[in-house]
Amino acid sequence: MVEHQSRPGWAEVEEYLSATLVHGDAGMDAVLASIDAAAMPRIEVAPTAGKLLMLLARIQGARRVLEIGTLAGFSTIWLARALPDGGHITTCEYLPEHAAVAGRNIMAAGFAAMVDIRVGPALDTLPTLLGGEPYDFVFIDADKGNNVNYLRWALKLTRPGSVIVMDNVIWEGTILNPGDDPDAAAIRAALDFMGANPALDATAIQTAGSKGWDGFAIAVVR
Ligand code: SAH
Ligand code: DHB
Ligand code: MG
Repeated sequence: MVEHQSRPGWAEVEEYLSATLVHGDAGMDAVLASIDAAAMPRIEVAPTAGKLLMLLARIQGARRVLEIGTLAGFSTIWLARALPDGGHITTCEYLPEHAAVAGRNIMAAGFAAMVDIRVGPALDTLPTLLGGEPYDFVFIDADKGNNVNYLRWALKLTRPGSVIVMDNVIWEGTILNPGDDPDAAAIRAALDFMGANPALDATAIQTAGSKGWDGFAIAVVR
């Protein structure tokens, strides 16, 4: 685990971008307030990244989304906003108390019928999803130690043309020298896996902002 540190300037620029381009609203503010109220960690995606998820899902034409790591449903709601009528999100969350907060937030946002929150370790839930329609879009954002496992499951649960986004792939740059941080080593292994897997066409983008120095990877399933 790294301590994410935002340098002076990064967060201010992000606030400007959020105010100018993202146009947050009372609903999203309430989700963020619910995280603080429940004393949950503030590890949701930044609003700029949440809107990016929405835009990517829309660009992709996604109807079915798989999310691993719900927290309070902030990224879930951004993704839900991208989906057409009849769209569906399966979101996996380990902690029942996080899932309960997310359930309330998703209901208040009007997406309860679209979102199925599956409580428990994602590695227990993912095998139960086999045999359903493939997912068009997968967002991986949970325990970093399982990122390679999540990528393997994403490949089983998607189709050619599906999009996979993985959060937190820079981890303050520690991926280059993981030292004794098992998360850093696991994130690095997941990037190596993406780059070496002929079934994936991938890249990654570094980000600097309220969440420190981090980034995300994007891949298309071949
Ligand atoms: N995607 C969310 C943030 C997720 S934070 C957002 O951007 O709004 C990571 C979440 O993954 C936490 O809520 C944590 O409880 C959950 N998590 C950790 N280990 C997990 C596991 N093995 N299976 C499912 N969820 C897990
Ligand atoms: C952590 C997890 C995240 O998914 C994130 O975006 C930032 C931090 C963490 O566990 O520290
Ligand atoms: Mg994250």
